[in-house]
Amino acid sequence: MQQEIEDYELNTFVEKVRNLSSYDFTDYSDKSLKRRLAKVLFDNNLDFHSFIERLEDNESFLEKIVKDITVNTTELFRDPPVWNSLRYDIIPLFKDKKEINIWHTGCSTGQEVYSMMIMLNELDLFHKANIYATDINPDVLETAKTGIYKYRFNLTYLDNFDAVIRQNQAGEYEDVDYSKYFSIDKTRDIIKIHPFLIDKPVYKKMNLVQDVNPFPVSYDFIICRNVVIYFNYDLQNKVFKLFYDSLNSPGCLVLGVHETILGPLASQFEKKNQAYFKK
Ligand SMILES: C[S@@+](CC[C@H](N)C(=O)[O-])C[C@H]1O[C@@H](n2cnc3c(N)ncnc32)[C@H](O)[C@@H]1O
Repeated sequence: MQQEIEDYELNTFVEKVRNLSSYDFTDYSDKSLKRRLAKVLFDNNLDFHSFIERLEDNESFLEKIVKDITVNTTELFRDPPVWNSLRYDIIPLFKDKKEINIWHTGCSTGQEVYSMMIMLNELDLFHKANIYATDINPDVLETAKTGIYKYRFNLTYLDNFDAVIRQNQAGEYEDVDYSKYFSIDKTRDIIKIHPFLIDKPVYKKMNLVQDVNPFPVSYDFIICRNVVIYFNYDLQNKVFKLFYDSLNSPGCLVLGVHETILGPLASQFEKKNQAYFKK
Protein backbone atom coordinates (compact mmCIF):
# COMPACT_ATOMS: atom_id res chain seq x y z
CA MET A 1 0.00 0.00 0.00
CA GLN A 2 1.22 3.53 -0.80
CA GLN A 3 2.20 5.48 2.29
CA GLU A 4 0.95 8.98 3.10
CA ILE A 5 3.60 11.65 2.66
CA GLU A 6 4.05 14.00 5.62
CA ASP A 7 4.63 17.74 5.18
CA TYR A 8 8.22 17.53 6.44
CA GLU A 9 8.97 14.71 3.96
CA LEU A 10 7.61 16.76 1.09
CA ASN A 11 9.69 19.76 2.17
CA THR A 12 12.82 17.63 2.53
CA PHE A 13 12.33 16.17 -0.94
CA VAL A 14 11.75 19.57 -2.57
CA GLU A 15 14.77 21.06 -0.83
CA LYS A 16 17.03 18.12 -1.77
CA VAL A 17 16.04 18.32 -5.44
CA ARG A 18 16.50 22.09 -5.44
CA ASN A 19 19.98 21.78 -3.90
CA LEU A 20 21.14 18.87 -5.99
CA SER A 21 19.83 19.87 -9.41
CA SER A 22 18.43 22.70 -11.51
CA TYR A 23 14.85 21.50 -10.88
CA ASP A 24 12.63 23.30 -8.43
CA PHE A 25 9.29 21.90 -7.25
CA THR A 26 8.85 24.57 -4.55
CA ASP A 27 5.80 26.05 -6.24
CA TYR A 28 4.15 22.85 -7.37
CA SER A 29 0.87 22.08 -5.64
CA ASP A 30 1.48 20.13 -2.39
CA LYS A 31 -1.43 17.79 -2.93
CA SER A 32 -0.41 16.46 -6.34
CA LEU A 33 3.29 16.42 -5.41
CA LYS A 34 2.55 14.28 -2.33
CA ARG A 35 0.49 11.90 -4.46
CA ARG A 36 3.30 11.54 -7.00
CA LEU A 37 5.95 11.16 -4.32
CA ALA A 38 3.96 8.39 -2.61
CA LYS A 39 3.71 6.58 -5.95
CA VAL A 40 7.44 6.98 -6.64
CA LEU A 41 8.34 5.53 -3.21
CA PHE A 42 5.95 2.64 -3.73
CA ASP A 43 7.15 1.88 -7.29
CA ASN A 44 10.79 1.93 -6.17
CA ASN A 45 10.05 -0.05 -3.02
CA LEU A 46 11.93 2.47 -0.86
CA ASP A 47 11.21 4.05 2.50
CA PHE A 48 11.63 7.81 2.66
CA HIS A 49 15.04 7.76 4.32
CA SER A 50 16.62 5.38 1.77
CA PHE A 51 14.96 7.31 -1.02
CA ILE A 52 16.62 10.57 0.06
CA GLU A 53 19.98 8.80 0.44
CA ARG A 54 19.70 7.48 -3.08
CA LEU A 55 18.82 10.91 -4.45
CA GLU A 56 21.97 12.26 -2.85
CA ASP A 57 24.24 9.51 -4.16
CA ASN A 58 22.92 8.89 -7.62
CA GLU A 59 22.47 11.65 -10.18
CA SER A 60 20.72 9.48 -12.76
CA PHE A 61 18.27 8.30 -10.09
CA LEU A 62 17.46 11.94 -9.35
CA GLU A 63 16.90 12.64 -13.08
CA LYS A 64 14.61 9.62 -13.28
CA ILE A 65 12.63 10.73 -10.22
CA VAL A 66 12.13 14.22 -11.66
CA LYS A 67 10.67 12.61 -14.79
CA ASP A 68 8.44 10.33 -12.70
CA ILE A 69 7.17 13.22 -10.62
CA THR A 70 6.00 15.20 -13.66
CA VAL A 71 2.91 13.43 -14.99
CA ASN A 72 3.02 12.76 -18.75
CA THR A 73 -0.50 11.55 -19.50
CA THR A 74 -1.79 12.76 -22.85
CA GLU A 75 -3.70 11.53 -25.90
CA LEU A 76 -4.56 12.40 -29.49
CA PHE A 77 -7.42 14.98 -29.52
CA ARG A 78 -7.74 14.78 -25.74
CA ASP A 79 -11.11 16.33 -24.75
CA PRO A 80 -12.73 16.38 -28.21
CA PRO A 81 -15.15 19.28 -27.44
CA VAL A 82 -12.12 21.53 -26.88
CA TRP A 83 -10.73 20.58 -30.28
CA ASN A 84 -14.13 21.16 -31.91
CA SER A 85 -14.23 24.62 -30.39
CA LEU A 86 -10.70 25.29 -31.67
CA ARG A 87 -11.64 23.99 -35.09
CA TYR A 88 -14.87 25.89 -35.63
CA ASP A 89 -14.74 28.95 -33.35
CA ILE A 90 -11.16 29.88 -32.59
CA ILE A 91 -8.56 28.93 -35.21
CA PRO A 92 -10.61 30.31 -38.16
CA LEU A 93 -10.32 33.78 -36.59
CA PHE A 94 -6.63 33.66 -37.55
CA LYS A 95 -7.04 32.25 -41.05
CA ASP A 96 -6.11 35.45 -42.90
CA LYS A 97 -2.76 35.87 -41.16
CA LYS A 98 0.36 35.31 -43.25
CA GLU A 99 1.83 33.04 -40.57
CA ILE A 100 0.37 31.41 -37.48
CA ASN A 101 2.79 30.80 -34.61
CA ILE A 102 1.79 28.11 -32.14
CA TRP A 103 3.58 27.10 -28.95
CA HIS A 104 2.66 23.86 -27.21
CA THR A 105 4.20 24.01 -23.78
CA GLY A 106 4.14 20.90 -21.58
CA CYS A 107 3.59 18.99 -24.82
CA SER A 108 4.57 15.62 -23.33
CA THR A 109 4.93 12.89 -25.97
CA GLY A 110 3.52 15.04 -28.76
CA GLN A 111 -0.04 13.80 -29.30
CA GLU A 112 -1.38 17.32 -28.73
CA VAL A 113 1.08 18.71 -31.28
CA TYR A 114 -0.02 16.16 -33.91
CA SER A 115 -3.70 16.84 -33.11
CA MET A 116 -3.14 20.51 -33.83
CA MET A 117 -1.33 19.87 -37.11
CA ILE A 118 -4.01 17.43 -38.32
CA MET A 119 -6.66 20.02 -37.54
CA LEU A 120 -4.71 22.78 -39.27
CA ASN A 121 -4.39 20.57 -42.32
CA GLU A 122 -8.15 20.01 -42.39
CA LEU A 123 -8.62 23.80 -42.17
CA ASP A 124 -6.10 24.29 -45.00
CA LEU A 125 -3.85 26.29 -42.66
CA PHE A 126 -1.04 23.78 -42.17
CA HIS A 127 1.31 25.54 -44.61
CA LYS A 128 0.97 28.84 -42.70
CA ALA A 129 1.71 27.41 -39.28
CA ASN A 130 4.99 27.41 -37.35
CA ILE A 131 4.82 24.85 -34.59
CA TYR A 132 6.99 25.08 -31.47
CA ALA A 133 6.80 22.53 -28.68
CA THR A 134 8.50 22.31 -25.30
CA ASP A 135 8.55 20.20 -22.17
CA ILE A 136 10.68 19.90 -19.05
CA ASN A 137 11.31 16.22 -19.72
CA PRO A 138 13.71 15.45 -22.61
CA ASP A 139 12.56 11.81 -22.83
CA VAL A 140 9.00 12.75 -23.76
CA LEU A 141 10.34 15.11 -26.42
CA GLU A 142 12.33 12.24 -27.96
CA THR A 143 9.13 10.16 -28.12
CA ALA A 144 7.28 13.12 -29.64
CA LYS A 145 9.89 13.34 -32.40
CA THR A 146 9.39 9.69 -33.36
CA GLY A 147 5.60 10.02 -33.72
CA ILE A 148 5.23 6.36 -32.74
CA TYR A 149 2.64 5.29 -30.16
CA LYS A 150 1.16 2.05 -28.88
CA TYR A 151 -1.97 1.05 -30.78
CA ARG A 152 -4.00 -1.25 -28.50
CA PHE A 153 -3.37 0.88 -25.43
CA ASN A 154 -4.57 3.96 -27.32
CA LEU A 155 -7.76 2.91 -29.10
CA THR A 156 -9.43 6.12 -27.87
CA TYR A 157 -7.27 7.99 -30.38
CA LEU A 158 -9.47 6.68 -33.18
CA ASP A 159 -12.72 7.60 -31.41
CA ASN A 160 -11.34 11.08 -30.76
CA PHE A 161 -10.20 11.38 -34.39
CA ASP A 162 -13.74 10.54 -35.52
CA ALA A 163 -15.31 12.98 -33.06
CA VAL A 164 -13.09 15.88 -34.12
CA ILE A 165 -11.99 15.28 -37.70
CA ARG A 166 -14.58 13.00 -39.30
CA GLN A 167 -17.71 14.35 -37.65
CA ASN A 168 -18.89 17.69 -39.00
CA GLN A 169 -20.90 20.31 -37.13
CA ALA A 170 -24.15 18.70 -38.25
CA GLY A 171 -23.02 15.47 -36.58
CA GLU A 172 -22.52 13.62 -39.88
CA TYR A 173 -19.40 11.60 -40.60
CA GLU A 174 -17.29 12.77 -43.53
CA ASP A 175 -15.01 10.64 -45.59
CA VAL A 176 -11.68 11.51 -43.95
CA ASP A 177 -9.62 8.45 -43.19
CA TYR A 178 -7.01 8.44 -40.44
CA SER A 179 -4.58 6.96 -42.99
CA LYS A 180 -4.14 10.50 -44.32
CA TYR A 181 -2.24 11.24 -41.08
CA PHE A 182 -1.01 8.01 -39.52
CA SER A 183 -0.70 4.32 -40.18
CA ILE A 184 -1.63 1.48 -37.87
CA ASP A 185 0.37 -1.74 -37.71
CA LYS A 186 -1.72 -4.09 -35.57
CA THR A 187 0.88 -6.87 -35.60
CA ARG A 188 3.55 -4.58 -34.19
CA ASP A 189 0.94 -2.79 -32.07
CA ILE A 190 1.93 0.66 -33.27
CA ILE A 191 0.45 3.86 -34.58
CA LYS A 192 2.94 5.79 -36.71
CA ILE A 193 2.41 9.43 -37.59
CA HIS A 194 3.24 10.33 -41.22
CA PRO A 195 6.57 12.10 -41.93
CA PHE A 196 5.05 15.36 -43.21
CA LEU A 197 3.69 15.91 -39.68
CA ILE A 198 6.76 14.62 -37.85
CA ASP A 199 9.07 16.95 -39.77
CA LYS A 200 7.31 20.22 -38.94
CA PRO A 201 7.56 21.02 -35.20
CA VAL A 202 10.62 22.49 -33.51
CA TYR A 203 11.09 20.88 -30.09
CA LYS A 204 13.09 22.21 -27.16
CA LYS A 205 13.51 21.34 -23.51
CA MET A 206 12.08 24.15 -21.39
CA ASN A 207 11.19 24.51 -17.71
CA LEU A 208 8.22 26.79 -17.06
CA VAL A 209 9.42 27.38 -13.49
CA GLN A 210 12.49 29.32 -14.52
CA ASP A 211 12.96 29.69 -18.28
CA VAL A 212 11.89 32.48 -20.62
CA ASN A 213 10.17 32.09 -24.00
CA PRO A 214 12.67 29.74 -25.68
CA PHE A 215 12.03 30.82 -29.28
CA PRO A 216 12.61 34.24 -30.85
CA VAL A 217 8.96 34.70 -31.83
CA SER A 218 5.66 35.74 -30.31
CA TYR A 219 2.67 33.48 -30.68
CA ASP A 220 -0.89 33.55 -31.95
CA PHE A 221 -1.67 30.52 -29.83
CA ILE A 222 -0.14 29.12 -26.68
CA ILE A 223 -1.46 25.70 -25.78
CA CYS A 224 -0.66 24.74 -22.20
CA ARG A 225 -3.10 22.06 -21.13
CA ASN A 226 -3.00 20.02 -17.94
CA VAL A 227 0.29 21.51 -16.77
CA VAL A 228 -0.53 24.47 -14.47
CA ILE A 229 -2.88 22.21 -12.53
CA TYR A 230 0.29 20.90 -10.86
CA PHE A 231 1.47 24.40 -9.90
CA ASN A 232 0.48 26.56 -6.92
CA TYR A 233 -1.19 29.96 -7.28
CA ASP A 234 2.06 31.97 -7.37
CA LEU A 235 3.71 29.82 -9.99
CA GLN A 236 0.52 29.82 -12.09
CA ASN A 237 0.54 33.62 -12.04
CA LYS A 238 4.20 33.73 -13.04
CA VAL A 239 3.53 31.39 -15.95
CA PHE A 240 0.40 33.29 -17.07
CA LYS A 241 2.51 36.47 -17.15
CA LEU A 242 5.09 34.72 -19.32
CA PHE A 243 2.30 33.61 -21.66
CA TYR A 244 0.75 37.10 -21.73
CA ASP A 245 4.11 38.62 -22.66
CA SER A 246 4.76 35.97 -25.30
CA LEU A 247 1.40 36.30 -27.10
CA ASN A 248 0.60 38.49 -30.08
CA SER A 249 -2.42 40.71 -29.85
CA PRO A 250 -4.79 39.24 -30.90
CA GLY A 251 -3.57 35.96 -29.56
CA CYS A 252 -4.94 33.33 -27.28
CA LEU A 253 -4.08 30.85 -24.59
CA VAL A 254 -5.69 27.44 -24.32
CA LEU A 255 -5.64 25.73 -20.93
CA GLY A 256 -6.89 22.33 -19.79
CA VAL A 257 -10.57 21.87 -19.02
CA HIS A 258 -9.93 21.98 -15.27
CA GLU A 259 -7.64 25.01 -15.40
CA THR A 260 -8.62 28.68 -15.08
CA ILE A 261 -6.78 31.98 -14.94
CA LEU A 262 -7.32 33.43 -11.47
CA GLY A 263 -5.40 36.28 -9.83
CA PRO A 264 -3.83 39.40 -11.31
CA LEU A 265 -3.64 38.19 -14.91
CA ALA A 266 -7.36 37.31 -15.08
CA SER A 267 -8.32 40.84 -16.11
CA GLN A 268 -5.81 40.78 -18.98
CA PHE A 269 -7.58 37.98 -20.81
CA GLU A 270 -11.11 37.47 -22.04
CA LYS A 271 -12.45 33.93 -22.13
CA LYS A 272 -14.33 33.00 -25.30
CA ASN A 273 -15.33 29.40 -25.84
CA GLN A 274 -12.32 27.32 -24.78
CA ALA A 275 -9.67 30.02 -25.16
CA TYR A 276 -8.38 33.02 -23.24
CA PHE A 277 -7.87 35.94 -25.62
CA LYS A 278 -5.23 38.51 -24.76
CA LYS A 279 -6.94 41.89 -24.23
C1 LIG B 1 -0.20 15.85 -17.98
S1 LIG B 1 0.99 16.27 -19.18
C2 LIG B 1 0.00 17.21 -20.29
C3 LIG B 1 0.32 16.91 -21.75
C4 LIG B 1 -0.56 17.63 -22.75
N1 LIG B 1 -0.40 19.07 -22.66
C5 LIG B 1 -2.00 17.25 -22.59
O1 LIG B 1 -2.78 18.02 -22.02
O2 LIG B 1 -2.39 16.17 -23.04
C6 LIG B 1 1.96 17.48 -18.33
C7 LIG B 1 3.30 17.78 -18.99
O3 LIG B 1 3.85 18.93 -18.37
C8 LIG B 1 5.23 18.75 -18.24
N2 LIG B 1 5.74 19.62 -17.17
C9 LIG B 1 5.62 19.47 -15.83
N3 LIG B 1 6.27 20.45 -15.18
C10 LIG B 1 6.79 21.27 -16.14
C11 LIG B 1 7.58 22.45 -16.10
N4 LIG B 1 7.96 22.99 -14.95
N5 LIG B 1 7.96 23.01 -17.27
C12 LIG B 1 7.58 22.46 -18.45
N6 LIG B 1 6.85 21.33 -18.56
C13 LIG B 1 6.45 20.74 -17.41
C14 LIG B 1 5.39 17.27 -17.94
O4 LIG B 1 6.69 16.80 -18.22
C15 LIG B 1 4.30 16.65 -18.82
O5 LIG B 1 4.80 16.24 -20.06
